[in-house]
Amino acid sequence: MGPTVRVIRALALALALLAAAGCEAGAGADGGDAVGVIREIELVAREADVDLGTGAPVRLWTYNGAVPGPVLEADVGDELVVRFRNELPEETTIHWHGLRVPAEMDGTTMMHAAIPPGGTFEYRLPLLDAGLFWYHPHVRSDEQVERGLYGAVLVHGPDEPVTADERVLVLDDVLLAADGGLAPFSTAPQTRMLGREGDVLLVNGRADAELVLRPRERQRWRLVNAATARYFRLAAPGLGLTLIGHDGALLEAPQPVEELLLAPGERADWLVTAPGDGPAVLTLLTLPYARGHETGAGPSLPLAAIRVEGPAVAEAPALPARLAALPAIPAAAAERELRLSEAMGSGGGHGGHGGHGGSAMDVQFFINGKSWPDVPVLTAARGSIEVWTVVNESGMDHPFHLHGFTFEVLESGGVPAAFRARRDTVNIPASATVKLAVSFDGFAGSWMYHCHILEHAEVGMAGEVRVTE
Ligand code: C2O
Ligand code: CU
Repeated sequence: MGPTVRVIRALALALALLAAAGCEAGAGADGGDAVGVIREIELVAREADVDLGTGAPVRLWTYNGAVPGPVLEADVGDELVVRFRNELPEETTIHWHGLRVPAEMDGTTMMHAAIPPGGTFEYRLPLLDAGLFWYHPHVRSDEQVERGLYGAVLVHGPDEPVTADERVLVLDDVLLAADGGLAPFSTAPQTRMLGREGDVLLVNGRADAELVLRPRERQRWRLVNAATARYFRLAAPGLGLTLIGHDGALLEAPQPVEELLLAPGERADWLVTAPGDGPAVLTLLTLPYARGHETGAGPSLPLAAIRVEGPAVAEAPALPARLAALPAIPAAAAERELRLSEAMGSGGGHGGHGGHGGSAMDVQFFINGKSWPDVPVLTAARGSIEVWTVVNESGMDHPFHLHGFTFEVLESGGVPAAFRARRDTVNIPASATVKLAVSFDGFAGSWMYHCHILEHAEVGMAGEVRVTE
C-alpha cells in the first residue's frame, strides 16, 4: 500500500500548494469561468535524493525536490506565473511543451538567455488551451531531462468528460549504474543513434507504481512520455481503453483502442474501465516496438500494477458520441517539405580515421540536409495554415515536435488519419512520409521544431520557424 499512497499524497500535496497559491493571488476569484485567475508557483531546480522505489535514493536533478516536479493545475483562461530559481550547477531554462505562450516565455535560448546557476526568471504563461502539457529544460535537454527535470501542466476546460477519478501519469525510464545511482552519460555512437534508454521504468517517479480501481470503475488517465528516447507502446489487457484526447485537446469522438504508441513528448488522454467481476490484478505494459536499427526485439515490460479491488461501483454512463468540435481546416497558404535524414560513420565528410568509435561526429542527423543551427529558417505568417510534408529518409522513427502551435495529421504513410486530433508532437515512422496541417494561430516570434528524441535534438535535429505579424 505504501507506494500508491505516497504517489497520491505527493500529488495531493502539490495540488494543495497550488490551490493555496491560486487563492492568494486570485483574491477570492474561485475558478469561475468568466474571469481567469492568476496562479503563482515557485519552482526551484535543485539536486535532491529521490526515492524511485529502487532500493536506495538516487541523486537526481529536480523541480522542488521531486521527480516529476509538481503538477501545475489550472483552468483555461488563467494565467500561470512561475517564479523560477536555478540552484543547479549549470544553466537551464524551462520550456512549456505544447502551451501556446509568448515566444520569450517558451524557454528556448533563441528568445531568452539561459538562466545561470543562482539566477531567477519569471515565466508568465497565459493558458489558452485545455489539455495536458508538460515542462522541461531546453538547455542540454538530453541530460537535464534524464536527470529528472520534468513535470506536467494540467489545464482544465469547461466541458470535460466527468469521471470519479482522474490521474496524471508521467512515464519515464532511467538508466542506473550497478551502485544504484544514475549511470554516467555516454556519447557512444549507439547512444547517439538510439538515444539513451533506461533500465528502470517509472510512473510518476516510481518503479513500483500501483494504480487502484474499484470493479466497473471508469477513470481518466492522462499520460505523458517524458523519456528522452524510449517509445512506450502501452497496453493493459483486461482493462477497457478509450482514447479521448491527444496532446493538447479532446478528440471529436471517443476511440476504443487496444494499445497506444506514445513517442517521447506525446500525451494521451484515456478513459479506462475496470472489469466488473470482482477483484483482479492487471498490468500496465509497454510492448516491444521496432523503431528502426534493430530495435523491438525485447520482451513486454511491466510499467505499473493495476489492482481492481473493493466493492463494485455502478456501471459508468455511456460516453457522449461527440466530445469536441474541431473547426474545418482552411486552405493552406504554403506547402513545405522537411526531409529527416541521418549519417553514420567515422567522421562523415570530415575524412576521420575509420572504425574509431566514441566521437559525437559518428552519428549525425539532418533536416533538409543540415543540422541546427544551419537548417534554413522558415518563415510563416501569424494566423496562416501551412501543409508540412515531413519525409523520414532515415532508418529509424523520429518524434516531430513543433513549439508554440498545433497541427493536425492529415496522413501518415499514405494513409489518411483515422480521426482528427490537435497535436504538437507526432511520430514520423522510419522511411515514412507524414503530412501535417500546421495552424500558426498563436504568438509571433522565433519557434523551434525538432526531434523529441532529445539526444537527436541536441546534436542538431532541429530547425527554426519565424512567425511574423
Ligand atoms: Cu518538449 Cu522543444 O520540447
Ligand atoms: Cu530523432
